Amino acid sequence: MHIDILTLFPSMFDGPLTESILKRAQENGLLTIHLHNIRDYATDKHHTVDDTPYGGGGGMVMMVEPLTVAVEDVRGPDAGIPVILLTPQGRVFTQQVAQELAQYPRLVLVCGRYEGVDERVRRSAITDEISIGDYVLTGGELPAMVIVDAISRLIPGVLGARWAAEEDSHAMGLLEYPHYTRPPVFRDMVVPDVLQSGDHGAVDAWRRREAIRRTWYRRPDLLVTADLSDGERWYLADLAETDAPVPA
Ligand code: ADE
Repeated sequence: MHIDILTLFPSMFDGPLTESILKRAQENGLLTIHLHNIRDYATDKHHTVDDTPYGGGGGMVMMVEPLTVAVEDVRGPDAGIPVILLTPQGRVFTQQVAQELAQYPRLVLVCGRYEGVDERVRRSAITDEISIGDYVLTGGELPAMVIVDAISRLIPGVLGARWAAEEDSHAMGLLEYPHYTRPPVFRDMVVPDVLQSGDHGAVDAWRRREAIRRTWYRRPDLLVTADLSDGERWYLADLAETDAPVPA
């Protein structure tokens, strides 16, 4: 996958893109990321990219021309490539949206700054708008990093062969089951017997039940759309009858 990122602050991306899994994905040729400074597309000698809003009011607005020309130059002639503006006004980013975007061979991410971008950029150069949650950040750079991270780990080969991204929290519409590793006892906390039993069927059943229980306790809203069998719905009904839920 190739991702172009348009930003006024390319150096903000240095750490997150050059460490760990994203670093390896780029070294292995599974992911390429190009950063483009929007200021390079300014047309005056001061490299101006923002201006005061028509109608007055506080803050500055990102100008239509530098941003539009930057998008056109970076995207090229292929109108099928998604050009995504990061903005608190966009559709909310979820694991489903990450899966959707991971299917594209190319993406262009546009990081908004200041109070917003000139509306004509939206109308002519942007194909999608995404928010990473109902709060306002100082710009789209951190949201772009979140999106790149979430998408990259879904690209086949980016995570190790033994990693099943399908088992992630949210991928199955449920939160993930609890994890344990050695030692079997720490202070007086023990690893559940079933996980040490070697019985893979029993382990799978336990994990599925714990995923449902944890989701019911922490994020019951997810259960409305989760894909559960009849037996699992009965299990859920039993949980819901418990007066004092056991923390999961
Ligand atoms: N820019 C500022 N806040 C944002 C948010 N929550 N999501 C995406 N882009 C943003």
